[in-house]
Amino acid sequence: MARRGNSIIKGLDINDIITRLNKAYADEWLAYYQYFIEAKVVKGIMKDAAIAELDQHAADELRHANLVSDRILQLGGTPLLNPKDWFTHTNCGYEEPKDFDVVSILEDSIKGEQCAISVYSDLADLTRDKDIVTYDIVSQILADEVEHEEDLQALHDDITEFITDIKKNIN
Ligand SMILES: [Fe+2]
Ligand SMILES: [Fe+2]
Repeated sequence: MARRGNSIIKGLDINDIITRLNKAYADEWLAYYQYFIEAKVVKGIMKDAAIAELDQHAADELRHANLVSDRILQLGGTPLLNPKDWFTHTNCGYEEPKDFDVVSILEDSIKGEQCAISVYSDLADLTRDKDIVTYDIVSQILADEVEHEEDLQALHDDITEFITDIKKNIN
């Protein structure tokens, strides 16, 4: 635990920050697995572009899990030790892919990113000017999640537009 490092935290309960970071940590692992498995099972038009995006997101979520767990340890906490705990601590849950069509997979993922944006935005609001180190980490992650949502939405819109064009040409 970083004693001097933690002494600079102002007006916040460190245990509360640890609890919230552990919830975000659970989200990151579930998001990692969601992207991992979506990239394996996705089907349909322009699926190669979707796979590249999903794989990239999986790598980013795993990197986020790393950042968040390192901060939990610095604060004197313990990152969740058992994957079973991911489901009881998660904010955003897990969207099991039921329909493997690329459009439906992208829609599930967009929902997950929107939840992540709310979680990190709340964490940034909580820590701003009070716990600068956590604030810095959650802000970096927030910027990634905003980019993730945008990338998925852009791909989703390209694919649905492409499908509409094909249908028009057939008729
Ligand atoms: Fe993430
Ligand atoms: Fe993300």
